[in-house]
Amino acid sequence: MIDVKETQTKGRKFGRMSRREHDSLITLLPIVRLSTESVLDKADVFGREAPLYLEIGFGTGTFLCEKAVAAPQFDFIGIEIYVTGIAKLLTLISKDNTAALSITNVRVFNKDARSVLINNIPPDSLDGAYILFPDPWPKKRHHKRRLINHEFAGILLSRLKAEGSVFIATDSQNYAGEIESSFMSAGFVADRQELSDIDNTTYALKAAKENRQLRMYRFIKRNVGLSE
Ligand SMILES: C[S@@+](CC[C@H](N)C(=O)[O-])C[C@H]1O[C@@H](n2cnc3c(N)ncnc32)[C@H](O)[C@@H]1O
Repeated sequence: MIDVKETQTKGRKFGRMSRREHDSLITLLPIVRLSTESVLDKADVFGREAPLYLEIGFGTGTFLCEKAVAAPQFDFIGIEIYVTGIAKLLTLISKDNTAALSITNVRVFNKDARSVLINNIPPDSLDGAYILFPDPWPKKRHHKRRLINHEFAGILLSRLKAEGSVFIATDSQNYAGEIESSFMSAGFVADRQELSDIDNTTYALKAAKENRQLRMYRFIKRNVGLSE
């Protein structure tokens, strides 16, 4: 049984859902959702030891699903607070519209990313993380609601393995500056690079349609200046 109390949230987090999305939520969420009551044991969850990638705020799940299909040798975890987005991801990964999964290397947390990183993701466990188009909260008085800040970058740093990377895309020039300074001050090494595989996310398509310039980053966890 799906725990409605834990899953169903009000307002924007629980938007309109098609019948199929609703059915996927009922049948597949109990299989795919990870517990927020314990620290993730990835070998237990996925039944193997494989590189682990995270997507924070996966929206409708197109990127997460594409990545998981393209790289069956890796495991993927998504964090999303928007229940309808989770339902959309579940329809993408359901097998022929049934209660079975077409891919087995994706799991999700339905909770605030900061809480999940602190309480459920073990230190030094991630090979990489993606944050594509984090909510920009454009009004100055709302900037404090932004997900990425110095503290958040520090938490992510601790959850990555050495040489692990965080990939970020934003179309907010103002947020880009804050993202860059947060990751640099937390101790990451920056590597400006184009992310060639993000064009399909809902917000990447929106930004392209509205002709907004994208800023993309790769921040690496690397010990610099340490001699052997
Ligand atoms: C602007 S959308 C981008 C969605 C998707 N990455 C894309 O590119 O289409 C930001 C997403 O982050 C999610 N989100 C915002 N704050 C979050 C948080 N604290 N924890 C987890 N997800 C969050 C939102 O629900 C939303 O789906």
